[in-house]
Amino acid sequence: MMRMLCATVTFSFLLAGYALEVRSDATASVPDARTGIYDPSLDTRVEALLGRMTLEEKVGQLVQYSAGQPTGPGTGRTDYEDMIAKGQIGALFNISTAKETNAYQRLAVEKSRLKIPLVFGLDVIHGFRTIFPVPLALASTWDPPLVEQAARVAAREASATGIRWTFSPMVDIARDARWGRITEGAGEDPYLGSEMAAAYVRGYQGTRLDAPDSLAATAKHFVGYGAAEGGRDYNTTEISEHTLRQIYLPPFRAAVDAGAATIMSAFNSLNGIPTSANPFILRQILREEWGFRGVVDSDWESVRELIHHGVAIDRETAALKAFMAGVDLDMASSVYHDHLVKLVSAGKVPEARIDDSVRNVLRLKFALGLFERPYVDEAREHDAMLRPDGLALAQKAAERSFVLLKNDSVSGDAPILPLSDRAGRIALIGPLADDLSSALGSWAGLGKVEDVVSFRTALARRVGEQNLVHHKGVGITEGSDEDLAAAVAAAAKADVVILTLGEDGGGMTGEATSRAFLGLPGRQQELLEKIVATGKPVVLVLFSGRPLTLPWAFEKVPAVLAAWLPGIQAGPALVRTLYGESSPTGKLVVSWPRSVGQLPLYYNALNTGRPADKSDLTNPLGGADDTYVSRYLDERNDPRFPFGFGLSYTTFGYGPTKIDGSRLEASGLTAKLRDAAGRDEGVLTASAEVTNTGSRPGEEVVQLYVRLIGTSTSQPVRALKGFQRISLAPGETKKVTFTLEPDALALWNDRNQWVVEPAKVAVWISPDSAHGTPATLQILP
Ligand code: NOJ
Repeated sequence: MMRMLCATVTFSFLLAGYALEVRSDATASVPDARTGIYDPSLDTRVEALLGRMTLEEKVGQLVQYSAGQPTGPGTGRTDYEDMIAKGQIGALFNISTAKETNAYQRLAVEKSRLKIPLVFGLDVIHGFRTIFPVPLALASTWDPPLVEQAARVAAREASATGIRWTFSPMVDIARDARWGRITEGAGEDPYLGSEMAAAYVRGYQGTRLDAPDSLAATAKHFVGYGAAEGGRDYNTTEISEHTLRQIYLPPFRAAVDAGAATIMSAFNSLNGIPTSANPFILRQILREEWGFRGVVDSDWESVRELIHHGVAIDRETAALKAFMAGVDLDMASSVYHDHLVKLVSAGKVPEARIDDSVRNVLRLKFALGLFERPYVDEAREHDAMLRPDGLALAQKAAERSFVLLKNDSVSGDAPILPLSDRAGRIALIGPLADDLSSALGSWAGLGKVEDVVSFRTALARRVGEQNLVHHKGVGITEGSDEDLAAAVAAAAKADVVILTLGEDGGGMTGEATSRAFLGLPGRQQELLEKIVATGKPVVLVLFSGRPLTLPWAFEKVPAVLAAWLPGIQAGPALVRTLYGESSPTGKLVVSWPRSVGQLPLYYNALNTGRPADKSDLTNPLGGADDTYVSRYLDERNDPRFPFGFGLSYTTFGYGPTKIDGSRLEASGLTAKLRDAAGRDEGVLTASAEVTNTGSRPGEEVVQLYVRLIGTSTSQPVRALKGFQRISLAPGETKKVTFTLEPDALALWNDRNQWVVEPAKVAVWISPDSAHGTPATLQILP
């Protein structure tokens, strides 16, 4: 669905000699009614129930606790059974078996006065029992239908235990690899992030939210959490409205448009106001502008944390501020339970506001069909897990998520990858070849290490134990001289060395895992250098939840594959990829830094008045002076690998970008191209020819970028506006065509409106964000 355009504007366009007219009207878009919460027929049931509730029972619906393994600081409460029977709890989370959910549900449905069922939530982030690659890796597939299917598998498994609500997708834009939670999102781009956000929501929620195998999705963390200063988790954020609207909000908007049933408010403060007490984002943007009718859940104790932020002097004012700002449901802090009733009695919170929040919660429960089916069949729980189609999908997702960063030849022949079955004796060295918990990543749901097929296991199956020697060498963060020497000795006897280095997937990525140094932890760099010094051909398989700064490796190692944290099918996926049965097609969704000093780093930056890049379209310096430009004395500006980059086992050539089209007319949410007589006339398009210039068949993710110049606000030097996956046989050429909707040309202007403005437009169809030659067009007033 297209982004809402708030302002009414009319412009005439001149494009390649044709006059165009674009109109953009203020219209709230209507999310898809299939998901349930927007179904108006629910309202009658909600009102009937609300009318029977006491104030205490209403507040009970706004209270949520963690009753299992905590995922934040403990609340000290354990008396949930009693509270549920009294109608004092609306939602529980962190429980993950059918037996437990049924037991708690029985208390709500059989013991509480109004028999309102509980809704059970969990962080089902990249799978429930069938663990997929981490979300950053899933995004690197650039394959939204695949991500949708992965979310569907997760929903099928989780719902079999009675969980009907996931705290996913995390749609935070992340521009700083120091932030450990970069692993949980789709990277730095709002367009790709929006595509992924919508895919997750569709996958979790399915075609009907009341189907027993659907989960209510949560877009989190609203908003700007990924802009934490210094990349330090939970830290303050300062984001202009311009950047908020153009960069940080679009993936949330896409999730809401796809029907996401809940939104989670974040931990961070945004421009001085904590997001969990911020009516500008929670009421004005989310409710009034976007028409969101679902539940706003706080993050873990983010209501109580308003005291730490300094905007509340005690728990009561924390409750008041969060609630009045628009947080419906209090996760884990107990502050609503303790204070909301009193705040209503004291006249500080109108009961009508409580009613509105309760409506949101009840609407969700009705939409999920919980009143009709509060329990799950415990006998069927087991059958839902680890089904063959899910396992096959987990393997495919892993294969598609790998990004081949480098693939040189070692002795002037063909590139080192793919490996040949005649490669000889293989030394598999490094701490991550057999690290089962790292493969599972940071939010592994009910994932179990015994479900993981490790790289070492799969490789041994492929080449035979007799052709494989495995040495850990060193651990991830520690290691002895003896182990290191043994690994080097093993490498020296092999024909090929595969090194598996990187981060601890559980402990060094995800929440509260910010890092100030992004090199290889422990003694891994030493191991790497010693192994390369043996002179053997080396393939580096990098396991991490973020890009790592490894200048030495990128210079000296001939082949580097970013494997991320690949999930339970890590081994088979890696083996198939390294041996060429699956050719890498993943592309980076974050700009890969050269050094930490470059962070935050992102391709869709604004230009400066003194750009260092002389190829820039508008650079007035034209190479005359290199001194007074925006750059570092001791580092380059550009990333080590750009956003959108990823090699394949074949190569692709791109022809010039061409633009075709005539008269474009946009009205509200629809965009039509018309001829001079006002008749529909196809679409405005950009196209380029892409050729497989190598000798193997291959798939390529072709990307469309746009830049607007001469506008009222500075616009990014490039912004992704589309992508397509194509398959090409060796020597084959395909014309790839993109439609340029007005949406792709809209911007947040200097009067705080979405508009399309007169501009010079550059359009690239390219393999990544740093290459290609633009075609240009003019939008005239
Ligand atoms: C805190 C995290 O920020 C959030 O993403 C998660 O959903 C909650 N804890 C619940 O576990």
